[in-house]
Amino acid sequence: MSAVPTVTLRDGASIPQLGFGVFQIKPADTEKAVITALEVGYRHLDTAQMYGNEKEVGDAIRASGLGREQVFVTSKLNNGFHRPDDARRAFEGTLAALGSDYVDLFLIHWPLPTRYDGDFVSTWRTLEEFNADGRARSIGVSNFQIAHLERLAAETDTVPAVNQIEVHPYLTNEAVRAYCIEHRIHVEAWSPIAQGQVLNDQVIIDIAQRVNRTPAQVVLRWHLQRGDIVFPKSTTPSRVQENFELFDFELTDADLATIAGLDRGENGRTGPNPDAFDYIPG
Ligand SMILES: NC(=O)c1ccc[n+]([C@@H]2O[C@H](COP(=O)([O-])OP(=O)(O)OC[C@H]3O[C@@H](n4cnc5c(N)ncnc54)[C@H](OP(=O)(O)O)[C@@H]3O)[C@@H](O)[C@H]2O)c1
Repeated sequence: MSAVPTVTLRDGASIPQLGFGVFQIKPADTEKAVITALEVGYRHLDTAQMYGNEKEVGDAIRASGLGREQVFVTSKLNNGFHRPDDARRAFEGTLAALGSDYVDLFLIHWPLPTRYDGDFVSTWRTLEEFNADGRARSIGVSNFQIAHLERLAAETDTVPAVNQIEVHPYLTNEAVRAYCIEHRIHVEAWSPIAQGQVLNDQVIIDIAQRVNRTPAQVVLRWHLQRGDIVFPKSTTPSRVQENFELFDFELTDADLATIAGLDRGENGRTGPNPDAFDYIPG
């Protein structure tokens, strides 16, 4: 049995606080990587239409011998499909690719405030439809800034269950996190180890040596103790195992504060700024 704690979302759904992300895993490598993760004990997978590997995620779940209900699966709407009819078709494509008649959590991947006449509200209303008909058990957003969340709150009926945003020691993203925590929107921290960039930081290395853990384990544990949901990605089996061994040690409050002190604000971003990002895959 996995020792991973579950988090209860505002809609009552339970989500394992630690999962496995499949961004930048080639489709040909995805089934094997996900099977490794499921064998280690991960029961939460984070994919997206944009990653091009939803089918292989579904194949891996079936090949693992686990029941569909035993694995929490998240996917995300691709940027080219924000108009309601496109979103409906794209969502059906996600279910077909996963080979499942539901997804546990479906997100708007990016708000794209400079596209679609700034209208992510009708996109959100379309996700509300998927939630109402049971095909998306929970719905949420990703890369939403405070202004985007305030607009959903003012113009729609459903508060997102999660906001999946870039968070790691070099970009602690505290203002967005604080808004989410206050409004019971659970924070999911993407690129939790900044794609490896934070692992050579001497401050992290020193804490890791003191607690006899690896830098990656220290950073992932920092996220968990702050209450965020994480899903590190790795195609290296030993790291997939390492990233799962987070539940038999604790960081002190002083350690948490020291790591948060590494924040570099906007300069710490590894990914795009959501206010400006307007990429639509060709
Ligand atoms: N919503 C969004 O816009 C968004 C954006 C980015 C990411 N995400 C989600 O967040 C997940 C995680 O983010 P990410 O994949 O960008 O980055 P990440 O998990 O922070 O880092 C992954 C990188 O770190 C390496 N790594 C993993 N574990 C390690 C360890 N224990 N020691 C040393 N290196 C290690 C991996 O290498 P190897 O694979 O070679 O081992 C890979 O290069 C994604 O897979 C995706 O599900 C969402």
